[in-house]
Amino acid sequence: MKKTSDILIIGSGIAGLSFAIKIAEARPDLSVLILTKSSDEAGNTARAQGGIAVVLNKLKDSFHQHIEDTMKAGKGLSNRKVVEMVVSQAPERLEELIAWGASFDKNKTGQLALGLEGGHSQARIVHHRDLTGLEMEKTLLKKVAVLPNISIQDHYFVTDLLTKENRGQTQCIGAKAIDKNINKHVEIQARITFLATGGSGMIFGNTTNPSVATADGVAIAHRAGATIKDMDFIQFHPTALFESNKHPLFLISEAVRGFGAYVVNTSGKRFLFKYDSRGELATRDIVSSAIVKELEESGEESVFLDCRHLNSEDFQQHFPTIVSYCNSVGIKPERELIPIVPAAHYQCGGIEVDTKARTSIENLYASGECAYTGLHGANRLASNSLLEALVYSHQAFENISREIDRLPVAGSEAGESEPAVVSGDGVSIEAKHGRLNKLMGYEAVQGTDLDFKNKVLKELYKLRKEVEEELPSIAFYELKNMTEVAILIMENSIFRLKSSAKNEKKLISN
Ligand code: SIN
Repeated sequence: MKKTSDILIIGSGIAGLSFAIKIAEARPDLSVLILTKSSDEAGNTARAQGGIAVVLNKLKDSFHQHIEDTMKAGKGLSNRKVVEMVVSQAPERLEELIAWGASFDKNKTGQLALGLEGGHSQARIVHHRDLTGLEMEKTLLKKVAVLPNISIQDHYFVTDLLTKENRGQTQCIGAKAIDKNINKHVEIQARITFLATGGSGMIFGNTTNPSVATADGVAIAHRAGATIKDMDFIQFHPTALFESNKHPLFLISEAVRGFGAYVVNTSGKRFLFKYDSRGELATRDIVSSAIVKELEESGEESVFLDCRHLNSEDFQQHFPTIVSYCNSVGIKPERELIPIVPAAHYQCGGIEVDTKARTSIENLYASGECAYTGLHGANRLASNSLLEALVYSHQAFENISREIDRLPVAGSEAGESEPAVVSGDGVSIEAKHGRLNKLMGYEAVQGTDLDFKNKVLKELYKLRKEVEEELPSIAFYELKNMTEVAILIMENSIFRLKSSAKNEKKLISN
């Protein structure tokens, strides 16, 4: 079957929806189709607990401070121009969200309440209790529902991009998908294709990401020849709730440390000041690596968050979802320690885009976690991700509304019979996914043992071969995407380690 749309958006999180709303409102003459592989609230956006970093209190805070915090968190590897653009657009993008109906917590004087998170030198996190992402997702979906030129198709899994060559340049002309509702292949032709597919957490043994985060966007863009950058910069969130044999793990928001919770070891001692003078308020990479060291030394399975000294009523009011989840697994945060471990949380690298969200393939755009913009460098500052998605979707909107009329209308809808998807039994795929998770732990990605990294990569090559022999099914396509992206991560990581060793040698010999 063939379909057409002026604009095809793949993914229904904040990046895809905010772009859809803007383009659909500005251009009611254009058709906008959003594909989502699951239901529309299943992605990472709806799970974002923390909030959006925005400089609002100009008496204490400034764009300059937010820019410097972002640069420092990213270990100097962020693109300063990009950081300046994103930080300075934040108030305007927040206003739009509020105008669309999103509500954020206010303080006693009726102003937006600003939370503090790791790596921020000022309180600047706008939030909706511990459900900020869900609040935004619901607001955006409500808005999308009343725009007649947008349609959302759920349970559509995109297997690859459709491309053609034009004078030596690859152009994207849509995507191939499987309509899971009827188990059929579909080709969707579009003038513009917009990737907003989120992250890759399901590659890793421990992750805070939902089960849909299977690296699909990066994998399909890579297969189509798009430039992919810095995939080894995977952020581990230090405070995922430790439960053995659980995948994914429940996230305990960064905002809990910002609220005053301590990180303690089995002896009940705070240990983070040994590693950074900011203690609990150091950035995620520093806190995660300190916890991993502590666990290596103690041989324990987890360290703990201690919230017992905090006002329990205030805590409950700020973090109802976290308290309710902890209670559901038998933990009372007001009197008990919460076991935590670092878990893969955010992919800082991705499909390289310019400041207009354009990838290296013509007419293919990307925004949100699947994109590499240069904002995050080696480590994302907390609560900069929803902001980045809003800003880059806006940038894409501005550019596409200027450019789209120059593009030919999408190809014909002439129907063709299509083969049904053959389904494997799932058992063998699940076992292979387990093998992938085991290989992709903290040490493989963040460690500095080159031999170990090479061993992991060798195993991944083997796994990729075995996966290719599986019968096609949705689980097969997801595992294929994850394995391919895991290989990109490890190849990148090994390359970076070797280059830094070479540079060190050069420095010594000079
Ligand atoms: C959190 O609340 O810790 C997650 C939000 C983010 O990833 O910035």
